Formats: sequence, structure tokens, C-alpha cells
Amino acid sequence: MGVDLDLVSRLVRGDSLYTPPGGEVEPADIIPASFASSAEAKEAVSRGSDLLASGRVAAVIVAGGQGSRLGIDAPKGVVEVTPVRGKSLFCLFAEKILALRRRFGHAVPLFIMTSRENDAPTRTYFQERGFFGLGSQNVHFFVQGMLPSVTPEGRFILSETGGVFMNPDGHGGTFRALRDNGCLGLMASLGIEEIFYFQVDNPLVKVCDPLFIGLHSANGAQMSTKVVRKASYDERVGVIVKQGGRTCLLEYSDMADEVRYATDHRGHMLYWAGNMAVHMIRRDFAETVTSRGTELPFHRAAKKIVGLDAAGNPTRMDGIKFESFIFDALPLARRSVTLEVAREEEFAPVKNMTGTDSLVSSRQLQSNLHASWLGRMGVDVPAGVLVEISPLFALDFEELQHKQDRIPRSIQEDTYVG
Ligand code: UTP
Repeated sequence: MGVDLDLVSRLVRGDSLYTPPGGEVEPADIIPASFASSAEAKEAVSRGSDLLASGRVAAVIVAGGQGSRLGIDAPKGVVEVTPVRGKSLFCLFAEKILALRRRFGHAVPLFIMTSRENDAPTRTYFQERGFFGLGSQNVHFFVQGMLPSVTPEGRFILSETGGVFMNPDGHGGTFRALRDNGCLGLMASLGIEEIFYFQVDNPLVKVCDPLFIGLHSANGAQMSTKVVRKASYDERVGVIVKQGGRTCLLEYSDMADEVRYATDHRGHMLYWAGNMAVHMIRRDFAETVTSRGTELPFHRAAKKIVGLDAAGNPTRMDGIKFESFIFDALPLARRSVTLEVAREEEFAPVKNMTGTDSLVSSRQLQSNLHASWLGRMGVDVPAGVLVEISPLFALDFEELQHKQDRIPRSIQEDTYVG
């Protein structure tokens, strides 16, 4: 794979790097979670449903990350994440997409961004499982770009496996990778207008949520974001704000204390809109972002790298990696919708094996949500018992309600409803 030497020399010189936008930080305009139960929400849901039924929406999963915190030697998407059946993230997302096809009568093409390292195992995983019934023609893999990591002095590092040491160019590389791999062109030929973008590590994601699609589309937005209320002032998550009049993401590390701890007139957290990394992106906006010739800015991060020293021996050394982030496209959008959703319904990321945002906490959160659906239908799930509802049985509570006669009347042990 070639190295974009011009880009690397600009990055080493400090050009093309991210600089926080100046200007006063203000709270973003946010559609509250309560909107979902309003009369206007029905219109948005119907608009989103029409777009799905007419085949105008594609799903993009970004799965090119290294998953270093999880520390497994496989693509993150194969992690067995559901609480009872132990379905993998990829299997779960595929089933959600299959359920959408059944509901709306049109296939949602799935695009999966991989990295050079995990592309082959990801493809093999899908092939060996018959693409989970999606049909190979509806699943498209595309490989993201790589960038060299450098020493603190800006020199290339030789890798143990030969050549220059490279790292994936971040989830902001999605735009460029979609274009360079012909996916934007393919989407255009399929009549796709909107892209539902999500990360590989959140099993609770409401894939192609018609409400979100409809709100984004009805507002003429180019890129939109789902947010959840931050769990605490110090939760390490980026926050959607307005700065210089534009909606943008303020990273946790760039947040001054007076912003982080700011409160509203009732004494509540002012900047609470935690980024869930779920976006709607208009296809033509993705094209504009990639055709500007001005790629998204890059962020530098210090990182320990095992490379070859001058004598050719493997050595752990200080390195700098460069990555771009998808949310840096937000300020380029003329319009953007920010929609609040309930954390317990849509957010259970798997970043670590145990503790916060882990495989353990995520399984429990998935079970809690499904137990709450069953509880609303009069079926209590005892503490310590896990439940799992297949997306192919019910994608949401409303669908479960229509299947009252097919759910167990009492639950005493771990139960899979499928
Ligand atoms: P994270 O920032 O959580 O990184 O990625 P990660 O690689 O999964 O995990 P750590 O930080 O090494 O432990 C958020 C999402 O963005 C994707 C990941 O696959 C995940 O879905 N991603 C990240 C890419 O697709 N490419 C990248 O270069 C970076």
C-alpha cells in the first residue's frame, strides 16, 4: 500500500492538524428524548419509514479499529456479545438489518469498513456464516486507509514485519475510504440518499432508526448525531456543542473546566450531550467532504510502538500516530440535527473486557433493556436472570407487544426469546 508522502510531510510539519474551533462554546440545539412520544414524531417516523421502504438508506459499520483495550486477536465484530445466546456483534447487526428488510420490504445494503489487518478475517467470518442470510450481494466490505506513524522527531519507523510502520487513519477515514473503494458510486447507482453510520461496538444501536432518519431528512440536514445524557461531569466522552455558530463535537480532553462543570439555571449539567457516534450522513455530503481536497483534520496521539532500531532489532519506542475523526465533519454541514435518546435503550458500548463500557456491563445492559420490555408486558424477570430477545422476533417494544401470546408467561432462568 502506498504512502501519501505529501500528506505525511504536512502532518509532520504540523499542517493539516486539528485545531479546536475558536469562539464561544454554547449548548447545541437538541431534540429531547421526550420528542419520540409526541404527535410530530409520527410524521418523522413515517418519513424515515418511507425512505427505508423505497431503498434510499444504506448502513455503514466502522470496524477498522484495533480494539486494543479489548485485547483480542480477532476483529471486534466477532466478539460474542449478547447475554444469553452469545451472538456476535456482526451477527446481531445482520439480524437487525434482516428484520428491517422484513418490516419495510426493501434490503438495506450494508457497508463494513475494515482495516488492512482485519479485512480478510472479517470477510471470511461473513462468508463462513452465509452472510447471516443478508445475501452476499447486499454486504460490501471496504478497507480504510493507513498512515505511517513517526518518531517524535518526525522520522518513519521500520516495522518488524517489513516496510514502514503504519496505523489505520481513524474513523474519519470513512469518507475517503468510501470514495476510494467505489462505495459512494455504488450507493449512487443503488439510489441511496442517506447513510446510517455506526460503530461496531454498540450492540444496542437502533440500526436505521426511522425516527432519526426522518428528523434528519425533514430538517434538510447533511450530517446528524444521536446523543445521550452524560452519566457524570467527568465521563470521558465528547460532547455536541455549538461553537462559532456551528454544531460540532468538543472532545473531553479539549474541554475547559468552566465548560465541563458549567450548569444551567436549575443547577443541572449544561453540556450533557454525550456523543454516541451514531450519525445520519447524506450521501451527497459524503461526496462533498471527499471532493474538497481538504481531508478532515488529523489528530496526533502519542503511542508506544515496537519498531526496528538502527541496528535492526525490535525495540519499544515512542511514536506519534495520526488519525482523523468522523465528527470533525459536523461543522462542515450546513444543517445538523442532534437527537437525544435514552442511554438505557440505545447505548451499551464494548470497549473493555470488564468494568465500565465492557463486555460484562454491555451484556447486563442488553438484558436489562429486554427485561424492561417484558416487565411492561407483565412478565417479571427475577434479579440475576438474563434475558435476550432476538431482533428477528422483535426489533422493539412495539413489535414485542404484537407477539404477547408467544412470549413466556413466567421467567425463572436465563431465557432467549427468538
Ligand atoms: P475506538 O476509538 O473505540 O477504537 O473506535 P477501537 O480501535 O475500536 O478500540 P481501542 O481504542 O483500540 O481500544 C470507535 C469505532 O471506530 C472504529 C472502530 O472499529 C470502532 O467501531 N475505527 C476506529 C475504525 O473503523 N477505524 C479506525 O481507524 C479507528
